Amino acid sequence: MHKGHSAAVLTGLGAWLPPRVVGNDEIAQRLDTSDEWIRTRTGIRERRIADPDTSTVDMAVHAGGNALRSAGSDVVDALVLATSTADQLCPASAPQVASGLGLSGIAAFDVNAVCTGFVYALATGAGLIAGGIADRVLVIGSDVFSRLCDPADRGTMPIFGDGAGAVVLRRGLPDEPGALGPFDLHSEGDRAELLTVPAGGAKQREAADPHDYFVTMQGQAIFRHACARMAESARAVLERTGLEIGDVDRFVAHQANIRILQATAKQLGLPGDRVVANIGRVGNTSAASIPLALADACEDRSLQPGHRVLLTAFGAGLTWGSTLLTWPDVKPG
Ligand code: COA
Repeated sequence: MHKGHSAAVLTGLGAWLPPRVVGNDEIAQRLDTSDEWIRTRTGIRERRIADPDTSTVDMAVHAGGNALRSAGSDVVDALVLATSTADQLCPASAPQVASGLGLSGIAAFDVNAVCTGFVYALATGAGLIAGGIADRVLVIGSDVFSRLCDPADRGTMPIFGDGAGAVVLRRGLPDEPGALGPFDLHSEGDRAELLTVPAGGAKQREAADPHDYFVTMQGQAIFRHACARMAESARAVLERTGLEIGDVDRFVAHQANIRILQATAKQLGLPGDRVVANIGRVGNTSAASIPLALADACEDRSLQPGHRVLLTAFGAGLTWGSTLLTWPDVKPG
């Protein structure tokens, strides 16, 4: 293993979505909402919902396998799983994902930064490579966030969907296509209550109010913070590389709400045709959001090798962060 001036280079991409499509009308049959409200306020038309017997680990194994196929090799030294819906509170889910992929024995652990999880996990994978600890890392984002939504809550049920996405990172050079960086990562725990699942964790195992086992969200505050923090973080990585917003070909941000994507792009002065948006068909898939958006943009050819891509995310915690890469000659597996 040689360290030198090495960088983590993206060399494989995989996605997986549960087969069950749930359209807005189906949600509107159960809750006081409408297809029109959900579409115009969020941009979401449909989302995928995992069957009760499909878990975060199962979805991660599917997406991870697809990424290894895309990379053309199943050799990896480490697996980093971004998730806030681990199968159990203890242990982490990543070792089970590694075993499910036939990779038992490699380093495997979870990273929980909720909807920013994938950017944090990319940074962790890049750090393992930069530190000489691993040569190839499988980074997966997998969440069944629909399980955290109160079936009676019209504020969260229409927004979240399930899915998984993954990339393979390999040791390479900082100036080659696919090289990740710099990274900009932040958190603000003082605002944890803006999006939280109050009970069911180790602090409060049991709740008097069953609603406390589900996510509560202050939507408008989250909306404002998401736009401001993603724009701030996007600017920070650009500044560190001496690039301008006009140098960005594709803006792949966490898919939380089409209006958040549009408002953030506007704050950045980024033309709308550079914004990648697949939220209409998947909803907010939490840690899976960015790799799923990358895979969809590859499939519809709006993302091409050579494009300079800015990845930005915001999530509960609060957490947020960004990174940059030039898209390599990689297709979803
Ligand atoms: N269907 C119909 N009406 C709804 C509704 C729904 N699903 N949800 C809320 N409403 C109503 C509200 O009760 C309110 O009615 P009122 O004016 O009579 O009081 C009205 O619509 C406006 O509510 P508001 O909360 O201001 O809507 P909004 O435009 O802020 O949209 C969100 C709500 C949740 C879509 C939006 O705030 C959002 O996307 N926030 C960010 C969420 C997010 O990204 N979370 C994940 C972060 S990683």
